Amino acid sequence: MTWKKIADKGAVAAGKGKAFKVDGKQIAVFNQDGYHAMDDLCVHQDGSIAPGKLDGDIVECPLHFWHYNIKTGQLTDYLKDVKLETYPVQARDDGIYIDI
Ligand code: FES
Repeated sequence: MTWKKIADKGAVAAGKGKAFKVDGKQIAVFNQDGYHAMDDLCVHQDGSIAPGKLDGDIVECPLHFWHYNIKTGQLTDYLKDVKLETYPVQARDDGIYIDI
C-alpha cells in the first residue's frame, strides 16, 4: 500500500463525506471524529455513499437508506457479514492522504 495525497486540507467539511477517484477506485472520505475512508460503492445498487447523512459513526446511503459504519465499512442492516474495504487516512500539513 502507498500513501497518496487525495485533496488539500479542508476539502472535506466537518460532519460530511466526499468522493474521490484514486487509482481507478471511487473512495468515500468522511470528516467525522477524524478522517475515515472506505470504498464508495454501496452493495445494494452501487450508489455513492459519500453524500449520505452521518449520525455518529453511521452513514446512510442516500439512495435507499442502507447504513454503514464509516470506521469499519460494515453494513449495519439487511445483510450479515458485508463489509466495504476501508483505508487509513492521515491529515497532514499539506493535505489529506490515504494509504491505498
Ligand atoms: S444503492 Fe445504497 S441503499 Fe440502494
